[in-house]
Amino acid sequence: MMKERQSAQILVTGGAGYIGSHTVLELITAGFGVVVVDNLSNASEQSLQRVTELTGQAIPFVNADLRDRSAMVALFQMNRFDAVIHFAGLKAVGESVSKPVAYWDNNVGGTLVLLESMERAGIRRIVFSSSATVYGDPQRVPIDEAAAIQPTNPYGRTKACIESILTDLATSDPSWAIGTLRYFNPVGAHLSGRIGEDPRGLPNNLMPFIAQVAVGRRERLSVFGDDWDTRDGTGLRDYLHVVDLALGHVDSLRRVLQSPGHWTVNLGTGTGYTVLEVIRAFERASGRSIPFEIVNRRSGDIASCYADPAHALALLGWRAERPLDQMCEDHWRWQSNNPSGFASTQG
Ligand code: NAD
Ligand code: UD1
Repeated sequence: MMKERQSAQILVTGGAGYIGSHTVLELITAGFGVVVVDNLSNASEQSLQRVTELTGQAIPFVNADLRDRSAMVALFQMNRFDAVIHFAGLKAVGESVSKPVAYWDNNVGGTLVLLESMERAGIRRIVFSSSATVYGDPQRVPIDEAAAIQPTNPYGRTKACIESILTDLATSDPSWAIGTLRYFNPVGAHLSGRIGEDPRGLPNNLMPFIAQVAVGRRERLSVFGDDWDTRDGTGLRDYLHVVDLALGHVDSLRRVLQSPGHWTVNLGTGTGYTVLEVIRAFERASGRSIPFEIVNRRSGDIASCYADPAHALALLGWRAERPLDQMCEDHWRWQSNNPSGFASTQG
């Protein structure tokens, strides 16, 4: 009798984090086996407990740092993975300016140990979280994948560096299957309101800040400039629902499981919204008013950034489907049910 074919086993690094936990949920729903490795430096294990509650499946979790060689070797010895989705990394732009060595060590150092462990175990399929931040201040919008790579901060430079390492690896051995995903601005939360973004301290990004104002944790939003060259003078970005992004990882994984090769795609909607438009959408979604004041521009900001997502559609058949109103509704459900994030409730 033929043995039943087991589902592919996927290692998800950084899987307890914001995008990772949403992706783990979609991977399990799609029938993949998942193991998560995360050092919980910017996450709570509760995110995975809630994914278990939503999927009815326990998620094997290893609390380890990617830079811990012996832990990584043991992880690959104890499991037979078919592919890796690599989220683990530090992501705060401002912090990367003040702590560049920590960012290079964690992001690039962690990736090198991961790739070494993969090579040793003979696993050559990886999906990597890059960022639209590698484009820096783009020469034109929408931005396609051929645009110049010119990051303007240490965080972005670590992402560009990892992209180069992956390119060298693919050149050295064409049996590698490598998908590099450049995300635009992930926001929102799972429809259940059980998992979502839980920033530590003052949020750096717009949507979590607005959500904390709406729930009463912060008094008002500072809008960084109203003199940009955009339709209302405030910054314009390509906000992307985190569930669409998670589904983009499932499609990317299928692709790397199918065939070798090295490819890079933008994951964005292709539509930009200004800060004032996002505030209005969030007010509609939450029924709360969002007090704000216009302040000086934030250093390093740009006027407009949005994706040309055509390549992701052509290569993966992926397109973002959830509109801005739904991003705000889902983000609000998460924030209002969990006013202090995962610390709000037990279980
Ligand atoms: P996140 O901080 O919520 O998730 C990252 C996870 O990695 C965290 O759970 C953290 O504890 C873990 N981690 C960090 N360093 C580690 C290490 N050395 N060993 C093991 N675990 C480690 O961030 P996120 O928003 O889910 O982002 C996931 C990835 O996507 C990151 O690589 C980030 O740079 C990238 N990205 C994020 C955005 C965004 O706006 N959220 C945009 C573009 C790209
Ligand atoms: C930031 C990062 C970028 C990263 C991206 C997605 C910086 C400088 N850049 O970019 O590297 O890829 O997140 O994670 O941090 N805004 C306000 N008030 C706020 C917060 C933001 O007005 O309190 C404005 C910003 O000026 C911008 C827009 O809102 O116009 C979006 O900001 P943010 O969410 O931080 O994303 P990015 O600027 O795209």
